[in-house]
Amino acid sequence: VADAATSAEWDEVVFFDDRYSGSASPVGPWNLVGSGAALLDSVDLFAGVLVAIGNNEARLAWYRRLHERQATFATIVHPRGWVSSHASLGAGSVVMAGGVVNIGAKGGAATIINTGATVDHDCELGEAVHISPGAHLSGTVRIGHRSWIGAGAIVRQNITIGCGVIIGAGAVVISDIPDDVTAIGVPAKPRL
Ligand SMILES: CC(C)(COP(=O)(O)OP(=O)(O)OC[C@H]1O[C@@H](n2cnc3c(N)ncnc32)[C@H](O)[C@@H]1OP(=O)(O)O)[C@@H](O)C(=O)NCCC(=O)NCCS
Repeated sequence: VADAATSAEWDEVVFFDDRYSGSASPVGPWNLVGSGAALLDSVDLFAGVLVAIGNNEARLAWYRRLHERQATFATIVHPRGWVSSHASLGAGSVVMAGGVVNIGAKGGAATIINTGATVDHDCELGEAVHISPGAHLSGTVRIGHRSWIGAGAIVRQNITIGCGVIIGAGAVVISDIPDDVTAIGVPAKPRL
């Protein structure tokens, strides 16, 4: 996420994380400068914040905490990603390199469109959805809050996927998936 941010011309990026040990330490080319609590206490100092946690539940919980503190959220699109001017992304979302969000699509807050993933026309994504690398949503797919679409999965057009769903890597989804189900395979079936 930090790499996408700097590529998208955010000039200074720092991390806050509860693994902070009391003094600044490197996270790759960036610095870990404080705990989550420290961010909550200083959030008004930042031009934009984005929760860079892969776990959808944890990302949403932190998004809500920061929202309560009236954080200004960054929405980051890597310069090699593309979002239609007729699509919308939720606050605190990121589109990684090669990610595409096509016309009429709407994303909820704190959503991740990962490397090379495509969200085609008129899709609707809830909050804290994660579309993993190389996954493809055909047109008019609806995905509920906190659902995770695995790497390389394909979802056929007009499908509705519930909340808290996991679609396994490489699955092909050709029927609706209810809430809180893990579905795998081709065609995707709920895991027993
Ligand atoms: C579906 C998934 C969540 C299951 O994870 P898990 O609960 O740890 O499952 P396990 O690895 O223990 O596998 C359980 C069984 O499901 C099978 N299985 C797991 N993932 C599968 C998949 N994607 N497709 C088909 N079968 C799968 C395993 O072969 C195993 O079968 P078995 O019981 O016959 O041996 C995980 O495998 C997956 O696909 N995650 C997505 C990863 C991803 O996209 N990462 C991108 C990060 S950015």
